[in-house]
Parts: sequence; C-alpha cells; structure tokens
Amino acid sequence: MNYQWYPGHMTKAKRQMQEDIKLIDLVIELVDARIPLSSRNPDIDDLGKNKARLILLNKADLADEKKNKLWKAYFQEQGFFVVELDARKRNSMKLIQDTILESCKEKIERDRRRGIKNRPIRAMVVGIPNVGKSTFINTFAGKAAAKTGNRPGVTKGKQWIRLNKNVELLDTPGILWPKFDDQAVGMRLAWIGSMNDSILNIDELSLDLIAYLTENYPGALEKRYQLQETDDAGTKVKPVEVLSQIAKNRNCIRSGGEIDYSKAAVLLLDDFRSGRLGRLTMEVPSGF
Ligand code: G4P
Repeated sequence: MNYQWYPGHMTKAKRQMQEDIKLIDLVIELVDARIPLSSRNPDIDDLGKNKARLILLNKADLADEKKNKLWKAYFQEQGFFVVELDARKRNSMKLIQDTILESCKEKIERDRRRGIKNRPIRAMVVGIPNVGKSTFINTFAGKAAAKTGNRPGVTKGKQWIRLNKNVELLDTPGILWPKFDDQAVGMRLAWIGSMNDSILNIDELSLDLIAYLTENYPGALEKRYQLQETDDAGTKVKPVEVLSQIAKNRNCIRSGGEIDYSKAAVLLLDDFRSGRLGRLTMEVPSGF
C-alpha cells in the first residue's frame, strides 16, 4: 500500500511555524506514545533549535507502560524534557508546569541577571494532526485561562493564553506533518487512525496489524476474540486465518454465509485504536 500526505499544506504550515517559533522560548511537542517516532516530524528539531524542548508522550494511557518508560529515557538521552500524558486528564498538569520552569531555567536565570522580573515563558504546542494538541491546550489552560489579546508591535495578530504569571501559550498549535520516507511509518500512522481510512486498504492494514500483534504481543488477540494464534503443532496461524477467526467469532458473515473480511478488519482496527486490545506500543527505540 502506498501512504501519502499533502505537500501543499506542509509548506504553508512550515512557513507559519518558522514565524511563530521566533516568538517563543519553549517548544511543547506532542507525540503519540504508541508510535513516538513515526508520529513526529524531525524537521522540528531544526525549526526549534536554540529553544527549550519538551516532549509530551501523549495518549500514554493507550500505550504499553514499560515502553513508555523506554521512550522517556530515549528522548531524555537526546536532551529533551519528557512527560508521559493523558491530555484529557488534569492530573499531570502540575508536573508539566514544573517541567516547563525546569526546562527554561537558563532563560529565567538570564532574565534575573539582567534585572528583568516576571517575564513569562512563552511556549507553543506542536504536533501532527490528531495527536491531541487541542485537548492538551484545553485541559492545560482550563476555563480560567484568559486570552491576553494582541500585543501590537511585539506579537502582532497573535493570541496568547496566560496560564499563570509564569507561562503563556500561543493559542493556535503548530501543525507538523508526518514524514513518509519510510512506508512502515505510514502504516503505523494508519494503524492509530492518523490517516483518512477511506484512502486506505483496510483489509491489508488489518493483516499487517495482526502480524505485528501476534509477533510482539502474543495472546492479545486471543484474549479479546477467543481465537487461536498458533495451531495445535505450535505454528503461528497466518494473519488472514486470524482475521477469519475474528470474523466468525464476531459474526462478520454476509447473508450468503460468506466471511466479511472487511467488516472484521474495521472492527479490529476500531478495537485497537480505542484501547480495547490493551495498552500496546507499535515501535520501540533502537538500541533499547
Ligand atoms: P489535535 O488537536 O492534535 O488534532 O487532536 P485533538 O486534541 O483533537 O485530539 C484527537 C483525539 O484524541 C480526540 O478524540 C481526543 O479526545 C483524543 N485524545 C487526546 N489526547 C488523548 C489522550 O491522552 N488519551 C486518549 N485516549 N485520547 C486522547 P475524539 O475527539 O474523540 O476524536 P476521535 O477519537 O473520534 O478521533
């Protein structure tokens, strides 16, 4: 299958981000904890150089807890500050506040030496579509956060959300586009639902998902669908056979008695995306 994205949008979004990034001290980048590398665009490393960097491993509630720790260590090793997150919940917000201050310690110190007091840290949220940027901004800013309005001359046309006396957030998140050099990246993005399903071959996508899961999370499908991933001789059952078992067990049968593979494929993807197959991570950092 050939996974595609739209280059026109990409150029425009990048140009906008180049402008916005000049205004800020800190880049808050959301990645999907289930596919932390495939869900980021490394261009941000270049765009955000000389800025403090915070990575939020979002949707951590859907990802494998042990692998969340691995990814946290991986990004920390590269100099990022990292927080695992479920952006729908408020319970990590204090930790994020503290981490923001920590990540901008040098700037705060520099300001202090120059006699500048109470200049808030300005941050911008970035990430690929559907990673949870708006959810995060809403949860983090809450209802109490006031928009500061335009500041002529300094931040023309920009709206800032004042979180507290220390932090201001640019109210429109920056959209990064996934990078498609590698088709496996496209496949992982399609698994988590970051692409329009109507342009995908769902049957093929589900077979790839089954192959990955039986290899890396043996038993996850057995548990959910009461099926057999291995035959009586202990040999792995082919993905198409697994899909057929899912179809039979979930009544995905056409009126003539024929197996409806596509219906089973949709059901499987839906269960995976909503966490009903358990907490699963679809890539691991190399060297870990
Ligand atoms: P975006 O601005 O980056 O495009 O993403 P947005 O906040 O709209 O979030 C996309 C979907 O992801 C939303 O679901 C949101 O509730 C969900 N989401 C965001 N953060 C988390 C998280 O940490 N954990 C989980 N489990 N879900 C999260 P939605 O509105 O229901 O859309 P959809 O699920 O129908 O696509």
